[in-house]
Amino acid sequence: MNILFAASELSPYAKTGGLGDVSAALPAALRARGHSVSVVLPYYRSARQLLENVTATDLSITVPMGAVPHTARIHTAVTDRGVRLYLVEKEEYYDRSNLYGTATGDYSDNASRFIFFSKVVVELGKYIRPVPQILHLNDWQTGLVPAIVRAQRLPYRTVFTIHNLAFQGSFWAFDFDLTNLPGEYFSPPGVEFYGRLNLMKAGINLAHQVTTVSPRYSREIQTLEFGCGLDGVLRENAHKLSGIMNGADYTKWNPATDEYLAQNFSTRALAGKEACKKALLSAFKLPAGDGPVLGMVSRLANQKGFDLVTSLMDELIAQDVRVIILGSGDSFYEDYFREFARKHPGKVGIKIAFSETLAHEIVAGSDFLLMPSVFEPCGLTQLYAMANGTPPIVHETGGLADSVENYNEHTGQGTGFKFAPYETNALRKAVQRALAVYADKPKLEALRLAAMSKRFSWDGAAAGYERVYEKAMTP
Ligand code: ADP
Ligand code: GLC
Repeated sequence: MNILFAASELSPYAKTGGLGDVSAALPAALRARGHSVSVVLPYYRSARQLLENVTATDLSITVPMGAVPHTARIHTAVTDRGVRLYLVEKEEYYDRSNLYGTATGDYSDNASRFIFFSKVVVELGKYIRPVPQILHLNDWQTGLVPAIVRAQRLPYRTVFTIHNLAFQGSFWAFDFDLTNLPGEYFSPPGVEFYGRLNLMKAGINLAHQVTTVSPRYSREIQTLEFGCGLDGVLRENAHKLSGIMNGADYTKWNPATDEYLAQNFSTRALAGKEACKKALLSAFKLPAGDGPVLGMVSRLANQKGFDLVTSLMDELIAQDVRVIILGSGDSFYEDYFREFARKHPGKVGIKIAFSETLAHEIVAGSDFLLMPSVFEPCGLTQLYAMANGTPPIVHETGGLADSVENYNEHTGQGTGFKFAPYETNALRKAVQRALAVYADKPKLEALRLAAMSKRFSWDGAAAGYERVYEKAMTP
């Protein structure tokens, strides 16, 4: 099949979270299965800095934004996975320090930035050879594409993947003018939601197939609790909705070969993990010692369960537990953790940053990964942690529920620790269960080996998407 994959992130060139990892790995996995796949990305400043082999093409694409024509120049490159990449250059929109906004909030012209991107994606499809049959769209930033395809009666079939329903691209009604869609699209079966333009809803309503990144999340989002207001829309579209679990990229997250690690290790030679723990403690200027280390690598956002974490911090450090957190985002949590680290030197390691190196060091060097997300569409960090023999402690939701097998104290089976409901006390108990296993070295080693043996393959996910593409192509 010929596929054009459009996304607002692509690891390692432009990334704020897991979407970047998916855009890197899934197209490569589809290509390995014999499909022709290209990726299209806004030409952000970070991509300018990090991509080395970019060539300018003579293609420029002009689309109307309301009454005003705007032009993008198209550049091409090949990703580090050998996938053809198209870059949409428009400096006034994308040559900025961040992808979506700064600490003070989202960029005020995000509607223009991503409506423009969506329009260029549709036009680009007309120039790519072989001509794409499938436009695979991701999250609200590309949610307008299915609407344009329908309005212009173009021959593409569209697949829209929801990575996170909490971000919807909801803009005031006047921004509808920027879409240049016929007026009837500003209605509940179209792109309108409670009087506003909603690009997530647009994608859900108008794509031929809709997917989300785990089976459990595909069910959860049809409920009031997890639907972020769109549960009714999702129930109406349930006939074309499915959940496909993301994979983990084991070329990047394999402790036996990972170049970021102080020492490599594997199921056959676990000793290196201890060296990684020592190196991690020293990187965070924490005293060496036998006590357990709980690690977190995360956007600092409410989604990730930080209200539960902050409510437990005092108790954790009162025991012989060290907590190491790498993250950035919400300034409330950034300030909280900075202050906590200042008050408790030697007990916690906090780094407010986005660092690939530290992410690998924490995932490999911690004893357990803490990931108590309120909701989690899929979650990749817990997959990376399992691959590194770092059993995750997770809230039983979304992709966390689907990917982690709860440890069974009687049989010794499982790959991590799950808790529910979403309450401090439930998390506390899960942490205590983990610490009890930590105290019993043979059990701990068996648990680590079980976690490391779990595989979440991108090839398997790609096979799932193939079936969705086939459905999308069946009229
Ligand atoms: P989400 O996409 O909701 O943020 P995921 O678990 O799917 O959650 O993916 C998060 C990705 O971002 C992982 O690759 C993780 O390693 C990475 N990540 C998150 N925070 C940081 C950080 N501060 N530094 C480096 N990598 C990070
Ligand atoms: C989103 C979700 C995360 C998921 C990622 C990739 O950022 O929050 O759970 O793993 O997308 O699909």
